[in-house]
Amino acid sequence: MHAALTLTQFILREEALHPQATGEFSSIMLQIALAGKCIARDLSRSGLLDLIGSTGARNVQGEEVQKLDERANQTFIAAFDSSNVVRTLISEEMEKPLTITTAKQPGKYALFFDPLDGSSNIDVNAPLGSIFSIHRLASSGEPVNESDLLKTGAEQVAAGYLLYGPSVSLVYSCGSGVHQFILDPGIGEFLLAAQHVRVPARGSLYSVNEGNYHKWPSGTRRYLDFLKEPDAASGRPYSSRYSGCLVADVHRILLKGGIFLYPAETKKPEGKLRLMYEAAPLSFLLEQAGGRGSTGREPILRIQPKALHQRVPLIIGSREDVRQAEEFIQTA
Ligand code: AHG
Ligand code: MN
Ligand code: MN
Repeated sequence: MHAALTLTQFILREEALHPQATGEFSSIMLQIALAGKCIARDLSRSGLLDLIGSTGARNVQGEEVQKLDERANQTFIAAFDSSNVVRTLISEEMEKPLTITTAKQPGKYALFFDPLDGSSNIDVNAPLGSIFSIHRLASSGEPVNESDLLKTGAEQVAAGYLLYGPSVSLVYSCGSGVHQFILDPGIGEFLLAAQHVRVPARGSLYSVNEGNYHKWPSGTRRYLDFLKEPDAASGRPYSSRYSGCLVADVHRILLKGGIFLYPAETKKPEGKLRLMYEAAPLSFLLEQAGGRGSTGREPILRIQPKALHQRVPLIIGSREDVRQAEEFIQTA
């Protein structure tokens, strides 16, 4: 067995490499890890605790709020209660940003998050995730200006996700590679599993909700037809894998290569997924791992957001696969 390194040790070691580091970023990561452990605990007992099902309410996206969505949101909020590092929280489950007013001094960062990703998997004991994105605020004091929050994905300070599968993975990047940790539940610690993860330049699997095929523009349909055509030389047909949880599907692609699409639809050109706490953080991670994130027409990380909850088409994964998907989409 090689030496075990905990997330805390790893973060402190990284911090020591940057003499200008204040420890603020480290404290955000450790609070996210804490929230992740609490959410994983709740999920592991969810069927036993009457936590399954809907609250009866709808979120800002008009989607049904599951009890566990709300509980996971509250868990993130509790982890940053009175934080003097994070000043504002922006969540899929909250229409407006939540500014922390109880801190001794206002924090310099904004935390965007999708507290529970893949909610339709809750009732069937399938994988779920949490996604986070950290931005540095330009202005100081309150209230936080909305324009200060509408930053491009390229400006993220760090991003990552937790994946609640057979084990709990924490994957993050703060702009110098992608690192993966796995929770050892026996000791309650995330342990380093892989440093500087790289996504293969090309994969052999695709991940998309193909039930939407007839809603897609012709270029997208032709790309999917192409992936299914047999051609041994280019490794086609690709295999299909789709879990209904973006984090799980992107995690598979990060480790094995391939392409995930939640593309534009003819009648819904903005797609389904949210820019600030789904598409941008995952694109930041994949680009840090040598992959790409695109709308099909432009890099996700270059989009200038207009609204906190804006949606965007997402095509993400191995760089050669994403480039080829863009060619089909752009020559439609
Ligand atoms: P959320 O549960 O946070 O609303 O996200 C669900 C997302 C994502 O996890 C998944 O890739 C996609 O929605 C699934 O949508 P379809 O059911 O339309 O395929
Ligand atoms: Mn989601
Ligand atoms: Mn969600």
